[in-house]
Parts: sequence; C-alpha cells; structure tokens
Amino acid sequence: MPLLHRITRKEHRPLSFTLDGVPCAGRDGDTLLTAILAQGERLRASEFSGEPRAGFCQMGACQDCWVALEGGERLRACSTALVAGMRIVTNRRSAA
Ligand code: FES
Repeated sequence: MPLLHRITRKEHRPLSFTLDGVPCAGRDGDTLLTAILAQGERLRASEFSGEPRAGFCQMGACQDCWVALEGGERLRACSTALVAGMRIVTNRRSAA
C-alpha cells in the first residue's frame, strides 16, 4: 500500500519511470520521493538497520533519501524532480 495518496496534481501529465526495474508512473511536478512513495510504503532501507526509510527532512538537508539511477548517479529523492524515462534504483528490497 502506498505511503502517500495523491490529493493534488492528479490532472498533471503522467511521467513513466522504472523503480527497481518495475514500470511506474508519476506526475509532472513530482519529486522522486513523491513518485516513489506514491508506489509503495518505503523509499529505501536503512544501510545500518535495514529498517524502512521514507526520508526525514523533505528539504535536501538530512541525506536520508539517497536513491540512484541505473547508471550510478546518486540523487536526493526529496529535491530531485522526476523526469520521464528515469530508471531509479533503491535498496528497499534488501529490508524485510
Ligand atoms: S529527506 Fe532529507 S535530504 Fe531528502
């Protein structure tokens, strides 16, 4: 079940992306964090405890929302705009 439920921008242009290889759709204007948490209940797993994480500060300051593109570029999910065709990878499947 998604952690976030969209209440605005429902009419914005859909943007396709992949999340850990799974085809997904966000909306124009979404951050990566919004797009990912509208798909599921976690952003990633903590590298220390394996516990689910969903970001913390939501403003680019805490470093709790790192994800990557398949090419290896690391991005802060809370402050990066979703672009159509992004191939996003997380470690969220490593947690229980
Ligand atoms: S949630 Fe804090 S930097 Fe992204």
